[in-house]
Amino acid sequence: MASKFLLVGSGAREHAIAQSLCKREDVQLYAYMSARNPGIDELCKKSGGESKVGDIHNPALVGDWAQAKGIELAFPSPDAVLAAGICDELVKFHIPVAAPLKSAARIEWDKSFLRQLMEKGRVPGCPKNGFFRTTDGLNGFIDSLGGQVAVKPIGLTGGKGVAVVGLQLKDAAEAKSYARSILDQRIGGDGVIIEEKLEGEEFTLQCFCDGRTLLPMPAVQDHKAAHVGDLGPNTGGMGSYTDTGMLLPFLTATEFEEAHKILQKVARILELEANIRFSGVMYGQFMATAKGIYLIEINARFGDPEAINVLALLETPLADVLEAIADRRLGKIEITWKTEATVVKYLVPEGYPSKAVAPSPITIDAKKLKSSKAELYYASVDAREDGIHTASSRSIAVLGIGKSIEEAEKSAEAGCGAVTGPLWHREDIGTAALIKKRIEHMKELKKR
Ligand code: AMP
Ligand code: GLY
Repeated sequence: MASKFLLVGSGAREHAIAQSLCKREDVQLYAYMSARNPGIDELCKKSGGESKVGDIHNPALVGDWAQAKGIELAFPSPDAVLAAGICDELVKFHIPVAAPLKSAARIEWDKSFLRQLMEKGRVPGCPKNGFFRTTDGLNGFIDSLGGQVAVKPIGLTGGKGVAVVGLQLKDAAEAKSYARSILDQRIGGDGVIIEEKLEGEEFTLQCFCDGRTLLPMPAVQDHKAAHVGDLGPNTGGMGSYTDTGMLLPFLTATEFEEAHKILQKVARILELEANIRFSGVMYGQFMATAKGIYLIEINARFGDPEAINVLALLETPLADVLEAIADRRLGKIEITWKTEATVVKYLVPEGYPSKAVAPSPITIDAKKLKSSKAELYYASVDAREDGIHTASSRSIAVLGIGKSIEEAEKSAEAGCGAVTGPLWHREDIGTAALIKKRIEHMKELKKR
């Protein structure tokens, strides 16, 4: 059994991963962070490990530190770190990893690779799509889909590069000009994907994966739009919820199983076609539509905030699960989940996502926080000697747990009330009114 664990990353998702890992008493946590996350730092110290701030995107630096510290199992977490090939470097030092190599993480950092694999393997749930490196044929393709399209940079953009007609884009003309600007400015890499616009309800299904076995986690619904009522620009995610079982209020067991099968098929075809075994967390972003389940994208990592929801429910020690991934024996373990609901709300700085206010102090009322029963996870904060300050991105994730979504939402909302500073959050996430809207939307679509 490993006890020296390395976590790479420093957001709220990583704070939740760190906390979950440290639930197993023998774990000594080492963290390589891009900025000091006070929550992770404390967990490292308490567990007898250490933390370091450095360039997490530099595989050689991380690899050297891991080797010097005698790391026995590594979990590099953020997308850009996986795309930089950190796992490949660690493997060179014979350090076991529970996350994908660069070649496997390609299903996230190269959207056209995923779509080609799906088409080759006849994986269901693939929307009509076209990939363009130049503007040749671009406008015609958008017209062939009646102008109802989603426009996506090919690579990583922190969840902020996709724009959809009827939401961020007014019409086909705007879609064409946005696609052209992605190509001209090389936003997210060298190419643009045009996809048919899907109408439905989105959900996230994350699976622990050792290449062959994919064990699903409870389904989560994230909220990417910045403002109440799903309005405004896309963000990295403003909050998310899970229900008391594996499903969501608008999602049937058949639909959940369909999504699980799509991810299983992707893992299989990745091995058959590209000889790549995917180890780690496979994250599927799905759209439940009247025509069935569609796959919007795959990430090669936990979602942020979705990780915070599911890790609060995971009963099996996360350290055991990561070991089983690294040893390729997921099929031999059983994973159990609490039957409670969770709601996460992100407190973000005023001005986010376009331009956050200048760093400002944040204070936390410990008494109020305790009575809310909510938990806080630090994201992009600056931990200074005189206290915690906001930085340029999402500041703190607030997690509420309860016997129902409603109870969890109340706890999360009360938890937000315990934090003072130039911050705001989406008050509608997890509320009965928004959940009802989701259920009715789905019913309405299925009636048509
Ligand atoms: P992505 O970064 O690929 O997850 O896309 C960001 C958001 O854009 C998704 O969460 C969806 O809300 C939306 N989106 C992406 N692709 C489509 C599509 N084909 N149809 C409708 N909406 C989409
Ligand atoms: N919450 C969306 C993501 O992690 O990509």
